[in-house]
Amino acid sequence: MFTRIASGIQLFHTDAGSGQPVVLLHGFPLHHAMWQDQVDVLGKRYRVIAPDLRGFGLSGVGDEAVATMDRMADDVVELLDALEVRERIVLGGLSMGGYVALAFWRKYADRLRALIFCDTRCTADPPAMVRTRQETADRVLAEGIGWLIEGMTPKLLAPTTRENRPHAAEAMRRMALSCDPRGVAAASRGMAERSDFSEQLSHITVPAMAVVGEHDTITPPDEMAELCRAMPHGRFVEIPEAGHMSPMENPSEVNAAILEFLGSL
Ligand code: MLT
Repeated sequence: MFTRIASGIQLFHTDAGSGQPVVLLHGFPLHHAMWQDQVDVLGKRYRVIAPDLRGFGLSGVGDEAVATMDRMADDVVELLDALEVRERIVLGGLSMGGYVALAFWRKYADRLRALIFCDTRCTADPPAMVRTRQETADRVLAEGIGWLIEGMTPKLLAPTTRENRPHAAEAMRRMALSCDPRGVAAASRGMAERSDFSEQLSHITVPAMAVVGEHDTITPPDEMAELCRAMPHGRFVEIPEAGHMSPMENPSEVNAAILEFLGSL
């Protein structure tokens, strides 16, 4: 469904089930459908809201050339307000979605019941990566998204996924191609500007879970374990037979981990 938020754009999102709200933020350059297996299962017991962040999927793009993680966090809070979600939410984010979740925590900690960090990191980009992000933004605007997802897919998926879930790569390609190049470029620039949260993780007082695919080479298990240790109430779950896209690659294990975590709250 679509909801118009206070900043004036329309966000597309799922709103499945009822009970404790669980909000799931997708990675780059994808959209809400990467969480479909989680929406289906968690939605039987919880209210699952998975938005397309601005510029992705069916959501509006906005006028700014840079979509910061703070701006996207503001969008999420505006969506919660528009949907009249008053309870504290469980917020989960994969990769870029995790960057937005950290920005959300910094600005809106009082709206949080718990956090789920999936295949993500808490550090800012080093200078070379900042340059790559700017080049990516320029090239996406000039040539579209095809080359980007083509280059990313082998890094996003574990080798076993190609055998076990042959449709995953094609599903990701379709998601990426449905995004607006202006939105993808703005998010690439926004990621380049994001803050380093390493020194702030010790102040995350809500329960938190770090989930990572055992074969994730983008945000590897060691790095995620470190992120988890820095949080006072962190629990760490490594997902077998999965890479950076663990919720799509091994949904049953990811769902079991999230259900156990939610049940413990
Ligand atoms: C993602 O999956 O969202 C991207 O790998 C994030 C990034 O490029 O840092």
